[in-house]
Amino acid sequence: MKTKQIESDDTLFSELKKFPISIVDNFFKDPDAIVDFANSQRFERPWGRYPGVRSEQMSKINFPLYNYVSNFTLGCMFNEASWEFTSSMQFQKIKPFHKDKDHWANKGFIHLDGNSLLAGLVYLNKNPDPDSGTSFFRVKKEKQHSFNYDTKFSLCRGEIDPDDAVEGLKELYSNHEKTAEIKNVYNRLIFYDASNLHTQTNYWMPNDEERLTLVFFFDKITINGKSPTERFKREF
Ligand SMILES: [Fe+2]
Repeated sequence: MKTKQIESDDTLFSELKKFPISIVDNFFKDPDAIVDFANSQRFERPWGRYPGVRSEQMSKINFPLYNYVSNFTLGCMFNEASWEFTSSMQFQKIKPFHKDKDHWANKGFIHLDGNSLLAGLVYLNKNPDPDSGTSFFRVKKEKQHSFNYDTKFSLCRGEIDPDDAVEGLKELYSNHEKTAEIKNVYNRLIFYDASNLHTQTNYWMPNDEERLTLVFFFDKITINGKSPTERFKREF
């Protein structure tokens, strides 16, 4: 079993975050056109690191859109007008793992976004279930962030029955407590410091719809300035 453990007193969880969790509503001028563009794309099933399917990289299929979303996000964080970055941005579609909204398999796997610094997404379902947004967590005292990759990957690849993921998910949730939740609202952009434990709140959507988002991850940001939370000397 491939399991990664991080203790509740790990400095990763106690240090000041570089970026605040942020919400920008009514993000795109014409979100319907973005949805039409997303639906014209080819979606590929990945090898199973995450649920659902993703489009090609936005930098390849629509560079102006990639540039706009990236620069808008960084512009919310930094005063400087110039920066360099490496990032990934793709449309993602996710089907629920179970028709029963309350089935444990529809609860997301609480995770960190790998080596990213700053991550975000735009919700693109017109009439979403509000509970299919994003939730943030912390590790309960004296518990661990214990992450069983095998269960997650097998579920994402459809290799195990959703019922077989229940025990692992129950344990995961018993070690964490929710600290914030952002609801799924059409055309809402959110971004967050990628060192926050988080997950999609629930995979269920009404009318057999797939959850459509535009997801992005900044791995490297080069800039001559400080992040929003580091601009002021921490006196207290
Ligand atoms: Fe994530």
